[in-house]
Amino acid sequence: MLTHDAILEQLRTELASENDGTAAMEKTVRRLKAARPSYSWVGIYLLHGNELVLGPFVGKPSPHTRIPLGRGICGAAAAERQTIVVDDVNADPRYLACSADTKSEIVVPIMDGSDVLGEIDVDSDQPAAFGQDDRVLLEAAAALLAPKVKDAWRM
Ligand code: SME
Repeated sequence: MLTHDAILEQLRTELASENDGTAAMEKTVRRLKAARPSYSWVGIYLLHGNELVLGPFVGKPSPHTRIPLGRGICGAAAAERQTIVVDDVNADPRYLACSADTKSEIVVPIMDGSDVLGEIDVDSDQPAAFGQDDRVLLEAAAALLAPKVKDAWRM
């Protein structure tokens, strides 16, 4: 399995020549999903007003294409402006179910200074699948993506 540094290096190279925000998000979700077999669903939500709108994703279609700020684990991470890791989604009352197979989830805000542009959301079919390594990887990926996403966000 590649280290998070190796994955981030690949992503940095892929994003360097990509000025289209949507294409940059597509490359990021594909790269992350391919890099970690425990990731069953990887998607990006962009914050438009008070709503998170689903953008590119890899995995089964989600019923949650629009999530109000403060709802779900996604809405909580955006409202709190911080990464949320949930080891057992079925034990978390905030959880909005996407797939019955999902056991754990991590949501990482994509920030521009103190503004939330959106977030990277990853689900796993394994319980407690997300550790410190995943947090480091996904927070760094969010930072790489932020300047690219800003264009798509303004639309
Ligand atoms: N589980 C998320 C909803 C999004 S789906 O996982 C794709 C939540 O609780 O906010």
